[in-house]
Amino acid sequence: MTHILRDKAALRSWRAALPPDRRLGFVPTMGALHDGHMSLMVQARAASDVVITSIFVNPLQFGPNEDLSRYPRPIEADIARLEAAGVDALFLPSVEDMYPQGASTLVEENLVSLPLCGAERPGHFRGVTTVVLKLFNLVQPHVAVFGQKDAQQCAVIERMVRDLDVPVEIKRGPIVREADGLALSSRNIYLSAEDRAAAPLIFESLKTAEKAFGAGERDSATLAAIGQDVLARSGRIKPQYWEVRDPESLGAIATVGARGALLAVAAHLGTTRLIDNLLLGGDA
Ligand code: PAF
Repeated sequence: MTHILRDKAALRSWRAALPPDRRLGFVPTMGALHDGHMSLMVQARAASDVVITSIFVNPLQFGPNEDLSRYPRPIEADIARLEAAGVDALFLPSVEDMYPQGASTLVEENLVSLPLCGAERPGHFRGVTTVVLKLFNLVQPHVAVFGQKDAQQCAVIERMVRDLDVPVEIKRGPIVREADGLALSSRNIYLSAEDRAAAPLIFESLKTAEKAFGAGERDSATLAAIGQDVLARSGRIKPQYWEVRDPESLGAIATVGARGALLAVAAHLGTTRLIDNLLLGGDA
């Protein structure tokens, strides 16, 4: 049975009752759980004895014109999935419990957060690091698992944990895809039939650039142009960025060298913003 912990007090009692020799794995989410999330729960289970997840649609990481109010919240279906998967506990706090009136402290990472989604969504990663550090302090997990689909989020959280000496091991779970390559996302349900049909071009653009890399292309601008050309096959896709970046710092690189690269793309289809990425191995 999944224990449902509806506030910080309930979470603290549950956590205090865990035997100290039990390793605790944590998967933070915003709900609308799909197979990608469930694969993170499986990974957390493999790395620990007890698994807890959280569902909290964090207002701090949404911009004023973003989809906070329409973000899907199918809580009953989510709980049923967690029960079926044998997840031990769910932390399900309210906004008031997480952010009591007068809260005035934010956590900000100032390097990895800046490009890509950070440039397009000001304040987004500050909202993520603030809530994730709060969740880590409350849950006190030994290991936490985040999806590689949000590669920049993973890099930002790894930095925060390193810089602030947070005692938790961060693991990344691989991207889970539909049969046609579209990365699973809670936002895919917003896509119209026409946009859904065009969406696999996003992954195809990454695979095409990877193929060019495999054939010897190392110039970042050329790889990006190859990817952008694939996206341009559908007028429905409005790219926000298609970039070749250092896999750790996410800084710009002119050529792909020994460290490899992260190919990262963000695009709008209608009013829905989708992201995807692919790691290129290094030459070393
Ligand atoms: O990836 C998400 O679902 C969110 O950004 C997270 C990590 C749960 C923080 O709100």
